[in-house]
Amino acid sequence: MSKSYNIAVIGGDGTGPEVAAEGKKVLNAAAVKFGFKLNFQDFDFGGERYLRTGEILPESAAEQLKKFDSIFLGAIGHPDVKPGILEKGILLKLRFDLDQYVNLRPIKLYPGVSTPLKDKGPEHIDYVVIRENSGDVYTGLGGIMMKGTPDETAIQNMVYSRMQVERCLRYAFDYTRKRNKKKTLALCGKTNVLTYVFDLWERAFHEVGAEYPDIKREYYHVDATCMWMVKNPEWFDVIVTTNMFGDIITDLGAITQGGMGIAAGGNINPAGVSMFEPIGGSAPKYTGMNVINPLAAIACGGMMLEHLGEDAAAKAIEESIIDVTANKLKDMGAGRMGYSTTEVGDLIAKGV
Ligand code: IPM
Ligand code: MN
Repeated sequence: MSKSYNIAVIGGDGTGPEVAAEGKKVLNAAAVKFGFKLNFQDFDFGGERYLRTGEILPESAAEQLKKFDSIFLGAIGHPDVKPGILEKGILLKLRFDLDQYVNLRPIKLYPGVSTPLKDKGPEHIDYVVIRENSGDVYTGLGGIMMKGTPDETAIQNMVYSRMQVERCLRYAFDYTRKRNKKKTLALCGKTNVLTYVFDLWERAFHEVGAEYPDIKREYYHVDATCMWMVKNPEWFDVIVTTNMFGDIITDLGAITQGGMGIAAGGNINPAGVSMFEPIGGSAPKYTGMNVINPLAAIACGGMMLEHLGEDAAAKAIEESIIDVTANKLKDMGAGRMGYSTTEVGDLIAKGV
């Protein structure tokens, strides 16, 4: 009997449903070719639902989603909803409730895609950022007192437990080993200033790292990491970092690989249900125009299949993306690809 996977789809806001549809198209083509089945079920979580019902996310959302093999997400963010409500109430809530403690973000320049980095090509830009996804300032610990007065004071704490740090590091070492490229894991931190949190990270990094003698360990401060990601991206193999630093450096990484239209990511719970999402936002002004670039969502589909153990299908998707970027698309920007959103999906699906 062929394998079958149940996938929850959250198209979300703006162009999210359009790119998710192209992702599904390519996933279906891969399923047919490689002999497995994908059962998609749509969930209407997002800004429209919130504006209609006043509910950000149903109480039962996480419990429902836990029954699936994976979650495939388009984008969250609506122009009529105050920034922060949907991001915190849907995206971050699901990451936390489903304990997706790793945010996996490959930074890979595909052939034919232009990078703002001078004299760099696909042979230089191919590494992965493992962003810790459960701790740091994202926990929301802190508060504000005497708000609105001249004495008001706000605190937002950078929080990490040894358990959170260690599980992320183990994932990162395992990932670096499995990736089997330079076998180098770089910790990105700020040991010269954040002397408590990065004391914990650095000790754990070397203690856990001792169990992986085949993996070389490096350390970079976060500010220097930004510099080297621009000047010498070829130095990197896998970078592991904290939640906030990871958020920042992966946008920098995304622009070096051609921008938000191409950057894919996965929120991973290695023992639970993971959620794959393009890094780019909902791009509301392009909604319904069939011009948005679906490559990031399509690449997310590939990451999802790899995570589900369908390595050959994942590889076929990546090869088809590479063929399309190298030989067909003009540009990565919305409306500048030379093809519509649906045509790009068709091209990649055909090449799988
Ligand atoms: C990301 C986004 C989110 C984050 C926002 C939308 C909450 O920027 O996935 O990188 O900060 O994690
Ligand atoms: Mn971000």
